[in-house]
Amino acid sequence: MGQIIDGKKIAQTIKDELKIEVDSLIKDHGITPGLAVILVGADPASESYVKGKRRTCKALGIYAKDYNLVAETSEEGLLTIIEELNQDDSIDGILVQLPLPSHINEEKILLAIDPKKDVDGFHPENIGRMMIGMDTFYSCTPYGIIKLLEYCDISTEGKHVCIVGRSNIVGKPVANLLLQKHNLANATVTVCHSRTPDIGYHTRQADIIIAAVGIPELITKDMVKEGAVIIDVGVNRVEDATKKRGYRLVGDVNFEEVKDYVSHITPVPGGVGPMTITMLMFNTIKSAKNRI
Ligand code: GUN
Repeated sequence: MGQIIDGKKIAQTIKDELKIEVDSLIKDHGITPGLAVILVGADPASESYVKGKRRTCKALGIYAKDYNLVAETSEEGLLTIIEELNQDDSIDGILVQLPLPSHINEEKILLAIDPKKDVDGFHPENIGRMMIGMDTFYSCTPYGIIKLLEYCDISTEGKHVCIVGRSNIVGKPVANLLLQKHNLANATVTVCHSRTPDIGYHTRQADIIIAAVGIPELITKDMVKEGAVIIDVGVNRVEDATKKRGYRLVGDVNFEEVKDYVSHITPVPGGVGPMTITMLMFNTIKSAKNRI
């Protein structure tokens, strides 16, 4: 039986440490970290993620400035809010939940966020800094994955990590982080995507597989090397009439098929998800410390 990586528990350990940092920022410096959380529209998955982010802010004593904007919000209107938040000294981080409605240019919005408040690590300046190993805000899911591996004592040094998915939010940044000359990285990295002819050929050779492609249970047992480590980033809703809400969440990996064949695996939910939120809090606190 492979070890199930308890992302919720590891996230809680980190959050306990972060709470102490927030308390001392408030007590010793009179600084309450502030995060603006902007949701445009009512996508159910985004609503659920944003709810989790706001709840965690509250638990840690971080001030969450909430924006729930209607889907018809104009690009200009959103840019005006971001500009105000860029100037607001009580705000250390600005989070615009993605995806945005199609009439809003996502690139334009991400570029408008002051890189010093870009706690999502999505601004090209911060992505560039990450790529060349400079200090910056690392994107939360990639950084959460690195932290998960660290807490589980799974070294990536010299290992073959195969990433399935090339998104700007997960695949590309996690590939870059794992390539860094750093003892929590130093991996040999392969990135597969929708135009890779035989994904299994690559994943079968990997010591660690990071699945971040958004296709329910794409990774099956025949695509995995025995004893590999599986990090499943996928959160897919699949119809399930036996559930009260009408769906269940599954990852990009067929958990039941591979769980006894691998050395470690993250569950969905309760694996990578809680780490993403935790690293957002980490970045917000890191930003607030710049006020000292
Ligand atoms: N949508 C999916 N993941 C994320 C994330 O990490 N940050 C933001 N802002 N939007 C997302």
